[in-house]
Formats: sequence, structure tokens, C-alpha cells
Amino acid sequence: MQLNHMIDLDQLKVSELRELIDLANSMRNNPWAYRESCRGKIMATLFYEPSTRTKMSFQTAMYRLGGEVVGFDNPQNTSVSKGESLKDTITVVSGYTDLIVMRNPREGAAAAAALYSRVPIINAGDGGHLHPTQTLTDLVTLFNEKGRLDHLCIGLCGDLIYGRTVHSLIKTMTRFEGNSFVLISTPELALPQYVKDVMDAAGCAYREVPSLEDALPDLDVLYMTRIQQERFANRSQYEEQKGVFILDEKKLERAKPDLKILHPLPRVDEIADGVDSDPRATYFRQTVYGMYARMALILTILQHSHIEADRKPFRSTHPYRCSNPNCITQTEPYLPHLFTEAGDMLTCAFCDGRTLI
Ligand code: CP
Repeated sequence: MQLNHMIDLDQLKVSELRELIDLANSMRNNPWAYRESCRGKIMATLFYEPSTRTKMSFQTAMYRLGGEVVGFDNPQNTSVSKGESLKDTITVVSGYTDLIVMRNPREGAAAAAALYSRVPIINAGDGGHLHPTQTLTDLVTLFNEKGRLDHLCIGLCGDLIYGRTVHSLIKTMTRFEGNSFVLISTPELALPQYVKDVMDAAGCAYREVPSLEDALPDLDVLYMTRIQQERFANRSQYEEQKGVFILDEKKLERAKPDLKILHPLPRVDEIADGVDSDPRATYFRQTVYGMYARMALILTILQHSHIEADRKPFRSTHPYRCSNPNCITQTEPYLPHLFTEAGDMLTCAFCDGRTLI
């Protein structure tokens, strides 16, 4: 495989996803065999947004492979606070390191960074858009805990509109045969149309429902998510949505005995603490699978990336600007305007946002 950057898991064929899962499991079963695999390599973790799991699992993954880590987790302590552009930061850091893992609150930021980086960029979450390494974590978890990635009825509950983990997971699970989806949210937090279009194009069955209790008996997998206060325009909108969906022991009585409950974490109150001791609660084991998933990705991308040193500047494909107010192109004005066009609809190449012309 050739893998220059990891922006979206769509870049990988299903067979390549399976190779990554197998490698993650090999690393999990025999970690000592890989302890020198990245000796001499340096990874940068550039976290413009808070993180516990993604940052620390990437860092420990690299250390377990024998590599080194540099980076920041508070851009206010870097020259970003002096107004340095994403392009300049990435140009500089890609001269120091062999691999960059970046989380940024702007949608499309990882794709933008990849335009200027001389080393692989791994998207560790870009706003409400995508979180491909969480999805890789989820795949490794489901493969090990359910024994398969196909013919699963998957419920996704909570913040489906801004939940980047949800978008990445649905997009990927549509590629495995026979999966269906139950979308459990309020109308205000419903899944974006572009993700529904992916399910339609793949011929996957899905239904939107307002009740977690009613959905539970049908599910093989329940993917709970936090209502993300930081994604709302104002506090009152968040207050209206929080606490609507709470999984507790009583509701779980309606679920299948082999249900797997996943959550990307952190949780706030959407899963009661009492659920943690239920054998169906998989979310803490999921965090450990995530470290091995990231070890597999780091080693694979370092082995398979071939980024040309002298790339031509990218030119805009259209004169229009993306209409998504959280798109990276809104704050990094030098970025080219890159879209794909279908009829009178433009889709932004950075954030997947849609603009009518
Ligand atoms: N799942 C996840 O992305 O967690 P963090 O925000 O702690 O990295």
C-alpha cells in the first residue's frame, strides 16, 4: 500500500484495514517483537485541542515502538499565539520530525496541513468532521470483541451532528457487508446529510429514532457519545440537549446479552457509573485497543509514505469559498479553494462542507 497521510480511513481499501487490524493484534500479542521498529524516528504531536486518550495513546504507541516524541498540547504556549499560520507551523515541524499527529478544532485542518508537510500527517480529530484513528480503534475493538465487522446492527446515540467519531465510524462500517444503523438522537443533533448519503450509496439500512430504550433490544453494538458542549454556538443550546440520553442498568435489561457498548470517551453523564461493571461495557478495553491500533498505523505509515520533496503549489479549482463557518479555509486564507462539483453543489475538499452555486 502507499499511505502518505491518514486524513480519512476512506483512503484505505478494506483489505488494507484488515492488514492494520491484524498488525495491531500481532503487536498486542507480542509487543516485544516491535520494540525497536521505529528506533531513530521522531513523531510530533500537535494538539490544538484538549485530549487524553488520543494524545497519550499515540505517545505511548511511539515509545513502545522505540521512537521519540516532541510536540505541544497548548497552542497558547507556542508561536501559534503570535499569529503563526498552520502552513508555517507544519512546514517547520515537518523539517524536524518524521511524522506529525495533529488535532485541530477546525474542520479540514488535517487535509490542509497535508498540503504543506514533507512528512506524513495523521488526523487526530478535525473539529466536528472526522477522527479516523478513533475509528481504527473501534474496528480493532469490534473485531476482537464481536469477532466480526459485518452483519452488525449498530446503534449510535447522542451527538450525531458534531460527533466526528460517529461520522468516521459510519463511513467505514458501510464498507463491510450487511451492517445496518440505528441513529438515536434529537432532531437538533441528527446526523449530517453527507453521512446519510454515504449510507444510501452503500445500500445500508438505517433508521432515525428518538428513544434509546426502544432501540436497545435490536442492537449488536451501541456506540454512545457525549453531548459536546464545546461544539455549540451558545450555552443555552447545549443545556437543551444535555442529559437527554443516559444509559443505565435498568435500560440495559432490554439489551442483548452479547451487546457491546462502545464510547470514544470522555464521558460526562451519558453512561451511568453502574454500567461499568456490566460485562457488555467495552469502553475501557477500547482505549487499550486504541494504543495498539495507533502503533500499527505509525509503523505502517512510516514504512509506506513517499512524499515528494518538490511539490507544485496547489491552485484553486473554483472562485467560491466554503460556506461551513468552521472550515479551516475560514481562518487560513492562503489555502486554495478546492472543491468537487456535482450539479449546482460544491463539496469542500477539506471539510466535506457543501456550498450551493
Ligand atoms: N476519544 C478521544 O478522542 O478522546 P480524547 O479526546 O481524550 O483524545
